[in-house]
Amino acid sequence: MKESIKIFDLTKQFKNLSKEINRDVINILRSGQYILGKNVHQLENAFTKFLNVKYAVSCNSGTDALILSLRASKIGKNDEVITTPFTYFATAEAIALVGAKPIFVDINPDTYNIDINQIEKHITKKTKAIMPVHIFGQSSDIDKIAIICKKHKIKLIEDCAQSFGAKKNGLYTGTFGDFGCYSFFPTKNLGCAGDGGMIVTNSKKNMIYLKKLRNHGGLTRNIHEYIGYNSRLDEIQAAVLLTKLKKIKAFDKKRNIIAKKYKSSIINNKIKLPYQAEGTHHVYNQFTICVKNRKRFSKYLENNGIPYGVYYPIPIYKQKALKSFKYKCYLKNTEKITKECISLPMYPELSISAIDYIVEKINNYK
Ligand SMILES: Cc1ncc(COP(=O)(O)O)c(C=O)c1O
Repeated sequence: MKESIKIFDLTKQFKNLSKEINRDVINILRSGQYILGKNVHQLENAFTKFLNVKYAVSCNSGTDALILSLRASKIGKNDEVITTPFTYFATAEAIALVGAKPIFVDINPDTYNIDINQIEKHITKKTKAIMPVHIFGQSSDIDKIAIICKKHKIKLIEDCAQSFGAKKNGLYTGTFGDFGCYSFFPTKNLGCAGDGGMIVTNSKKNMIYLKKLRNHGGLTRNIHEYIGYNSRLDEIQAAVLLTKLKKIKAFDKKRNIIAKKYKSSIINNKIKLPYQAEGTHHVYNQFTICVKNRKRFSKYLENNGIPYGVYYPIPIYKQKALKSFKYKCYLKNTEKITKECISLPMYPELSISAIDYIVEKINNYK
């Protein structure tokens, strides 16, 4: 393989969009309006149209999107929030940061999303919300989770950091609950050139509160109604995102073509390919396979110049940062998948020759 393969390559995407992005960035720099200007406004509007929701409030990161949604749900000390232990740390971190306790429910061994059949037994008087993650770009059983939340009168905060554009039964993830939280971290399907996030909601009251929270607790200069945050998306990031949003369906199509190619061509009984649940539109933020001896397999990939990522090697309840919660859980599917999962290169600009090479090497793995 002549070209070197990357786990993801942001430079290729920028190269294809550079004319538009360079023009917009220069215009913003010339305008002198760098914060909460017309690009942010346009992006929020574009989000509501794309996802068919009433309101969108941008913020500084996906983590902040989760924190602001928890705050707007009045969740804090002595409260519990049910979530998955197989996710990026930020999901549980956001819950802990508002003073609540993350309660971990095991995952489905096929989709790696929170196991719908195990959620209800964890609901107690203290449970204030469920925060599912649509891991790797595939919707969780979000329609059923929404029913559980309604039944128990608790909030539904969707962590859509990896699932912009993913659907369940024809509806976008992020639109089933009280809040849909997005990350624009550069490697996300819709990524900016730094940090950024977005919250969508159909509640006007929540929208106004979120707008205050992201701006030091107020909308009017020097009037602070709440202890808030400095969590505004800046104009340059919004402009980059507006350009990329126009292309997101094409990017999504390419990711799906690559996933289809991997799935139809990788034939090796040592490898478990990703499973796509019925009624879902997957957006493949990651293409994650499972292999029994990951250490040996990853060495093999390294020796053949194939980069990989391990998302995620440790169940969140085992993270040192959460030791004060004294978790005693051993969630068997999570334990197994964290030992076996490994993600292959996946981004819209990945070349056919690179895919062919990766497939050939994996098929030759003994
Ligand atoms: C599932 C999940 N939740 C939350 C986040 C946090 O997003 P951000 O990095 O934008 O704060 C990420 C980002 O990596 C994520 O993958």
